[in-house]
Amino acid sequence: MLIVLNSACESAEDQIRRKTEAAQKTSSSGASAPDGMAVFRKNCVVCHGSNGKLGLNGAKDLSQSTLTAAERTAIVTNGKNLMTPFGKILTAEEIDAVVLYSLTFSEKSTPQ
Ligand code: HEC
Repeated sequence: MLIVLNSACESAEDQIRRKTEAAQKTSSSGASAPDGMAVFRKNCVVCHGSNGKLGLNGAKDLSQSTLTAAERTAIVTNGKNLMTPFGKILTAEEIDAVVLYSLTFSEKSTPQ
């Protein structure tokens, strides 16, 4: 029981540490953005799947999306129907990074 509790605590701490390191990286250099793939894995795979195609809870197949980065940013920030609004969960930099990452799933040509 204790072991279970310990490992649960450690993973939460690890997550916070990783987040803090990512934030520090961004603010100190300005050049390195948060890791869009990490943000996606943590916040989006539950509905969209790791390749963007899962479509759980009515989620759109991101590989078929033709939305621009700006349109995606609006949806990720404000949510839409069953999609969670991430404006208060993620920083603007994390949203930018995850939107760019979502564009890598595209099997259609997406206007920037
Ligand atoms: C709770 C489930 C859920 C989670 C978590 C979720 N989404 Fe969605 N997403 C949806 C649903 C449902 C839609 C379709 C909304 C609609 O148009 O009705 C959607 C639509 C989208 C669209 C628009 C696609 C299109 O072509 O219309 C994008 C882009 C998107 N999600 C990106 C993300 C990103 C990036 C994340 C993580 C930060 C995320 N989603 C997390 C459920 C989710």
